[in-house]
Amino acid sequence: MKIIGIIFSLIFSLIISLNGQSWTEAQIDSLIDQMTIEEKIGQLTLFTSDWATTGPTIRENYLEDIRSGKAGNIFNAHTAAYNERLQKVAVEESRLGIPLLFGYDVIHGYKTIFPIPLAEAASWDLALIEKSARIAAEEATAGGLHWTFAPMVDIARDPRWGRIAEGAGEDVYLGTLIAGARVRGFQGEDLAAPNTLLACAKHYAAYGAAQGGRDYNTVDISRHTLWETYLPPFKACVDADVATFMTSFNDLDGVPASANTYLLKDILKGKWNFQGFVVSDYTSINEMVAHGYAPDNKAAAMYAFNAGLDMDMQGAVYYNHLEELTAQGNVSEKAIDASVKRILKMKNALGLFDDPYRYSNAGREERIILSEENRAAAREIARHSLVLLENKNQTLPLSNSDKIALIGPLADSPIDMLGSWHGSGQADDAISLVKAFGALNKDFTYEKGCEIEGMDSSGFAAAIDAARSADKIVMVAGEHFNMSGEAASRASIRIPKIQEHLLRRLVDLDKPVILVLINGRPLCLGWESENVDALLEAWQPGTMAGYAVTDVLFGDHNPSGKLPVTFPVDEGQIPLYYNMKSTGRPMDPNQKYTSKYLDAPNAPLYPFGYGLSYTAFEYSNPTVDKSEMTTSDTLTFSVTVTNTGSSSGHEIVQLYMHDLFASVTRPVKELKGFSKIFLEPGASKNVQFTLALEDLKYYNSELEKIAEPGDFLFGIGRDSNTELNLKVTLK
Ligand code: NOJ
Repeated sequence: MKIIGIIFSLIFSLIISLNGQSWTEAQIDSLIDQMTIEEKIGQLTLFTSDWATTGPTIRENYLEDIRSGKAGNIFNAHTAAYNERLQKVAVEESRLGIPLLFGYDVIHGYKTIFPIPLAEAASWDLALIEKSARIAAEEATAGGLHWTFAPMVDIARDPRWGRIAEGAGEDVYLGTLIAGARVRGFQGEDLAAPNTLLACAKHYAAYGAAQGGRDYNTVDISRHTLWETYLPPFKACVDADVATFMTSFNDLDGVPASANTYLLKDILKGKWNFQGFVVSDYTSINEMVAHGYAPDNKAAAMYAFNAGLDMDMQGAVYYNHLEELTAQGNVSEKAIDASVKRILKMKNALGLFDDPYRYSNAGREERIILSEENRAAAREIARHSLVLLENKNQTLPLSNSDKIALIGPLADSPIDMLGSWHGSGQADDAISLVKAFGALNKDFTYEKGCEIEGMDSSGFAAAIDAARSADKIVMVAGEHFNMSGEAASRASIRIPKIQEHLLRRLVDLDKPVILVLINGRPLCLGWESENVDALLEAWQPGTMAGYAVTDVLFGDHNPSGKLPVTFPVDEGQIPLYYNMKSTGRPMDPNQKYTSKYLDAPNAPLYPFGYGLSYTAFEYSNPTVDKSEMTTSDTLTFSVTVTNTGSSSGHEIVQLYMHDLFASVTRPVKELKGFSKIFLEPGASKNVQFTLALEDLKYYNSELEKIAEPGDFLFGIGRDSNTELNLKVTLK
């Protein structure tokens, strides 16, 4: 077996090294010279295949468009065989034979589905996150794909927004590092290798700031917040050489992102010198009419194109209007050529001019998709994504001698393990908790009890009976996969009522109750946190969900995930995130005129960075090597972390900073570093962080990144509640 594997990988690397970027820039220019205006616009057009759609379909029967060169790019078409069929039409039947580019939403896996991105972010493990994207790319390219609409790098601070599931959470520093890791994972070392994909940084920009957390809603933030909070992960993608960008649905400062010259021309293609191409979101150009920005689709096409948007996804507005706009002198053909060139350069970088069929390899598809190795990686990453929120009296881990009642509508619902945007992942391939408990020979009985939503409590009695005769109760509750993701905002972010009622009945039995949550966003869990004995945030863990959760429940893996996003007590506190400003009247419970609520605390239920372990970690002797620094100095922080418990485990050590006074007020805390370490019981480790002037910088009111002299406080600890007591003065 091993030898066959080695032979395969040798042949594979040979293929990679034989295939290069076959065309020179001059060849691409000469191809553009041969193109008619219609063919050029075809390259700026992306249509969904008839395979599947992810929104309202505008066009049917696109084969004729491919043949006539009017559709140069297709999404939602996948599998080696199907894409090869379409590619043949483009290459063999169109006048110039330009290969199609195939895109798809490979967000957290193609067929082997990994935890949702928010869950992966909870691992704080950049190597694992990169590996997950790498495997997704390997599988997707074997399935005939060239381009993924990922990573989604929108900072999200409103858990009502369903798309919080698709990103890395609320923090700029963590989100920026994860953005780079995902791009590197998808794109690999060399785009010309047949197992690497073009990545797409989306949704540019500030989509996560939709007012009220309602999807597609208006965004109105200051330029300062744009630069400081929302743009850095996008810049990190550019720094990682991301191939493409996608605009967002929202307007920003009154200008829809798809026609936003400031975002596209001034920043992305100007200041950042981005060399790839920009695609719209699904019909987002047309939607400028509903925004009240463009009077009709033709004007929308003109605004978008002239703002720097190269490719129209599904809207058919470039297809229908760009030629006329060019003839009328409202769009320049030179600019069209430049956009076409950006797109052709990416096709060339993938090696498609060399061999348009290189990504359609049925043998590779058969061999690697859902392979044992990929499934094992999905299980490993899922284990690292789980966050232990409560563990009273060391209720967890469970023991193999415990008789368990496994209850709840999500205990045996494979599709809900996959979360939103699960690519071509299938429920049949996903492992539920019931399936894993069975396969791993646990002593358990299962009762569903109720549906995820609705009013039907007829299953309660059987569930309560099962719970009565068990030693411990594991209830698996939360959201179904469509309750987060696109167009899935919720005003109330609690466990649906029917499940809460069932949980209350189980808690009344006075037996240890472990609540396992399956969900795509932070939930308000005030009652649950007080009344259950253990609370495990499992998110939507992907194909290997059941095994990963069972591994953690029974202590075969010690949980180490930390929240990448704040969990509020109450929806009324939203937006609530750890690096808020202090205000002029910081909260004082004894003073009336201070910044607080009359009926809710200011503090969250679980802060950013929080997560428990089955073992205990003690932090001692935090130090910094200087109390005064010059602009050329670096600071070295150090802390000793000791595993004082009885099991080995990972700990995520976090460094926070507060800039005490500045010409623009600064957040009370900013994450500036983290380190994931592994310690055997009794072992200690000295953890160090180094910061330089760059790390102390921020955007002033002129939007220049500067560091101002003055005092800074730092602290090292287990979560964002860490006290900051190491003072450094910047001279
Ligand atoms: C709309 C979504 O906003 C975007 O994220 C996705 O990539 C496209 N549809 C294509 O499916």
